[in-house]
Amino acid sequence: MPWSEVYRTGCEIIDNDHMRLVDVYDHLLISLENRLPLHKLDNIITEFIRVVSEHSTLEHRIMSEIGYNSIDAHIADHERVMEAISSMISKFQKGNYTGALEIALLAGKWEATHVERYDRPLAVFVNETQKILIASCT
Ligand SMILES: [Fe+2]
Ligand SMILES: [Fe+2]
Repeated sequence: MPWSEVYRTGCEIIDNDHMRLVDVYDHLLISLENRLPLHKLDNIITEFIRVVSEHSTLEHRIMSEIGYNSIDAHIADHERVMEAISSMISKFQKGNYTGALEIALLAGKWEATHVERYDRPLAVFVNETQKILIASCT
């Protein structure tokens, strides 16, 4: 799943982090497809989890700071993907590459839907809030 402009939300900080997410996700998919040995995959999965959780933290922080009213639904959707990632890891730890890859592909589809349903409305709200703040200071 390479980065595509269709994923752009219009909020630069979120878009830059999504690009980083797409990079580590692609690395993970290629490694699973190539059935890299477990000891090599371990680092890639650790890096993937780190970037996913940093991204969730970033969006949670933005939503809290601007008093975003759909924060709970957005966080709940992030938690759903974290659950999917946990089950992907347990499949991979059992050496079930096919199972791990299936879940990784589902996580990719989830991300595309999530951007559309949750991140894009958040980006619109961030940009509107910024305009109001700028207008109130001029
Ligand atoms: Fe999000
Ligand atoms: Fe996001």
